[in-house]
Amino acid sequence: MSRLLVTGGAGFVGSNFVRHAIDHGDEHVTVLDALTYAGDLRSLEGLPASRLAFIHGDVTDAPLVDRLVSEVDAVVHFAAESHNDNSLRDPRPFLDTNVVGTYTMLEAVRRHDRRLHHVSTDEVYGELELDDPSRFTERAAYRPSSPYSSTKAAADLLVRAWVRSFGVRATISNSSNNYGPYQHVEKFIPRQITSILRGLRPKLYGEGRNVRDWIHVDDHSSAVRAIVERGAVGETYLIGADGERSNAEVLALILRLMGRPADAFDRVVDRAGHDLRYAVDPSKLRTELGWEPAHRDFEAGLAATIEWYRDNEAWWRDAKDPTEAGYAARGQ
Ligand code: NAD
Ligand code: DAU
Repeated sequence: MSRLLVTGGAGFVGSNFVRHAIDHGDEHVTVLDALTYAGDLRSLEGLPASRLAFIHGDVTDAPLVDRLVSEVDAVVHFAAESHNDNSLRDPRPFLDTNVVGTYTMLEAVRRHDRRLHHVSTDEVYGELELDDPSRFTERAAYRPSSPYSSTKAAADLLVRAWVRSFGVRATISNSSNNYGPYQHVEKFIPRQITSILRGLRPKLYGEGRNVRDWIHVDDHSSAVRAIVERGAVGETYLIGADGERSNAEVLALILRLMGRPADAFDRVVDRAGHDLRYAVDPSKLRTELGWEPAHRDFEAGLAATIEWYRDNEAWWRDAKDPTEAGYAARGQ
């Protein structure tokens, strides 16, 4: 049985990956998570204690990270500050966790010669025009727009430099927008679903023409697992599932699936520097590693996600009011 250290394993994607690894493999997983506002131990409930250990700690804590890395075979690094709107309000935690945290991890895997998979985002490539037929590839230039995406880009570049300069055995993945259960209510899809469940009107930034490339979180996890198992050291893989949709389209679908009128939402002040469009070409992942997404029907995946939020109000209830108060203070 191999031993995995998963950072950020109490967050949305990290907890899904932990569940995926335990369900589909024989790994023992140690989760390192600081339990910020975005981390929730309840997202790991029901997993067998014999396969999972939880360490409450920070990825910038070098002695702790060093010890944990020495005790495992490989690290999957999800821990990050992940929300663009928060990065516009207070960028500092993004620098600490995303940049210094990744540096801390790189130094530990270098010292102990451990395999690292670094989880990143398609946002490092900046935006595409709405009428541009192209999609991001692994060779696209880095052009991040926001404090969040620039700190993720900085982290990716550190990983590349540690691979080249020190021979660190690392891979990188850049995924498109994830949706599914256990996503924090600050994010677009859960925000709108939980607002409707609460009797609040959904909020669309600007005209809603911005396009995101949606992938179910289960498919992100299976892709990361394929890369950890079969990916070539030093390589970058883009993760996406051909899921481009405008925000207005996604909101219209949520309103229809939840039985609300098509105009039952508010347009609010746009996000500063709002990227127009992200779109990922996942050909390399498909051809080289044989990965395929299991969720190909976005409407079905969204309907199941709505049901999950309907059935699990206890999981999101306490976060909803403070999150909405923060948005309201910024006119969003
Ligand atoms: P999230 O905000 O839901 O979870 C982040 C987790 O990291 C939380 O559990 C939090 O407590 C933990 N964390 C934060 N700072 C920490 C620190 N200093 N030390 C230890 N733990 C800390 O984020 P997410 O959406 O699950 O994203 C996870 C990773 O996937 C991030 O690296 C993100 O950039 C990447 N990613 C996410 C998406 C997406 O759509 N959600 C898409 C592409 C890439
Ligand atoms: O592309 C991958 C990225 O996807 C990840 O790296 C990030 O961690 C993740 O948060 C996500 O970033 P986005 O900024 O695209 O996601 P968010 O859910 O914040 O917003 C999605 C789109 O919806 C975006 O165009 C902004 C818009 N939006 C968002 C909110 C919260 C609204 O129109 N209304 C809203 O209330």
